[in-house]
Amino acid sequence: MAKSKTVWFCSNCGNEYPKWMGKCPACGEWNSFVEKEVVTGKTAPMSIPGASRKPMPLKDVSSSQEDRVSLGSKEVDRLLGGGIVKGSLVLMGGEPGIGKSTLSLQLPLNSPNLKTLYVTGEESVKQVKMRADRLGGDASNCLIFSETDMSTIIAEAEKAAPDLVIVDSVQTMYCQHVESTAGSVSQIKEVAAQLLRFAKSSGIPVILIGHITKEGTIAGPKILEHIVDVVLQFEGENRGAYRVLRSIKNRFGSTSELAVFEMTGTGLREVENPSEMLIPMHEEGLSGTAISAMLDGNRPFLFEVQALVSSAVYGTAQRSATGFDVRRLNMLLAVLERRAGFKLGQKDVFLNMAGGLRITDPACDLAVICAVLSSNFDYSIPSDVCFAGEVGLSGEIRPVSQAARRATEAARLGFKRIFVSSYTHFDRKPQGIEVVKVADIPALVRALFK
Ligand code: TYD
Ligand code: MG
Repeated sequence: MAKSKTVWFCSNCGNEYPKWMGKCPACGEWNSFVEKEVVTGKTAPMSIPGASRKPMPLKDVSSSQEDRVSLGSKEVDRLLGGGIVKGSLVLMGGEPGIGKSTLSLQLPLNSPNLKTLYVTGEESVKQVKMRADRLGGDASNCLIFSETDMSTIIAEAEKAAPDLVIVDSVQTMYCQHVESTAGSVSQIKEVAAQLLRFAKSSGIPVILIGHITKEGTIAGPKILEHIVDVVLQFEGENRGAYRVLRSIKNRFGSTSELAVFEMTGTGLREVENPSEMLIPMHEEGLSGTAISAMLDGNRPFLFEVQALVSSAVYGTAQRSATGFDVRRLNMLLAVLERRAGFKLGQKDVFLNMAGGLRITDPACDLAVICAVLSSNFDYSIPSDVCFAGEVGLSGEIRPVSQAARRATEAARLGFKRIFVSSYTHFDRKPQGIEVVKVADIPALVRALFK
């Protein structure tokens, strides 16, 4: 017998509590609780294909590889760990206009062997057709369905039995038995739960699209992250041409991998070698730039860090960073001031990461410091030099993970020198590149600006 009760939900992290609270104990967000009516005893328990009903020794479980389906994009396949796993639910999040619908329509168009059901709740069938014409490719095996009612969608999906289902977007779908409007926390959760059940029971992989705003959004896909198997997130400047798709959760592969795309007149183009696009085309001799050798997941690549240091016009100096944590920039500037005697307190500092990338790899610290010093002294760093090192509070330069792979990638791209921490350990000396080891900032300055 179905009964209904009321629970309270954090719209930021999705945690559920029996009563309202001002601050969410789980994520610390204020005023994020919304009320939700739940029907107990109505939803069927979820069954996972291949699940066992009894506990069994782990060693007896056969360890065959997951069954994967290859999608129409090499980069998306790589991001997922070698194709999409059958029966998995993948959430693709990103700000409106970033290219989620474009990419998800390109997947079936580029893989005509894959029978796909593309459900759109935002655009009419005609609009999708127009976009498909623009994108090109083979549309013969792609079914389009403009619908928002989940029970109809699931019934049609079961009938059509495709190889892949794409649902665009979670905010527009609704379940009839949930009494709130589409896009509310309860609808979003129920839509995702139904799709998960469908995916697990049919073995058909589902890609679910969700809008997310810069602020992390109310009732957005954030609350779905623990329900789904994989979360892919689109990042980048809407105005810029480059888009980064990042894997932030993956039950079947590694996270922190990323794929770079370029938005063109005919859809998203895969950028297989991001270094080539992120390294400057300009002539040698510009000050304020430094190249960082960074790592995303498993793939090393190089990109340019740009800094501009100028005398502060107003009383307080401005600090601004695009693609880099401004608090970390402040910390690095404080280290430069206190540990190496560079007086930057009265200077405006602007920092920019090439290609609209958002960088979290601490190995980028060294390049940031070098770009700032280069701009400050108007001294250009030779264009065949790159950096990989973390900077500590006492001005020491710390080693970074997989330094050898970074150095090898730099050598491949024609760099002649890489600056790393003195404490870096190489199993094998990188070939074709000079490794300069520096222990702290004064040593770096001596070696670089001599
Ligand atoms: P879209 O995929 O609809 O974004 P989302 O689904 O994430 O909201 O479109 C993103 C933008 O890309 C849109 O402003 C138009 C642009 N665009 C191109 O530049 N070239 C193209 O071939 C397509 C299809 C879109
Ligand atoms: Mg869209």
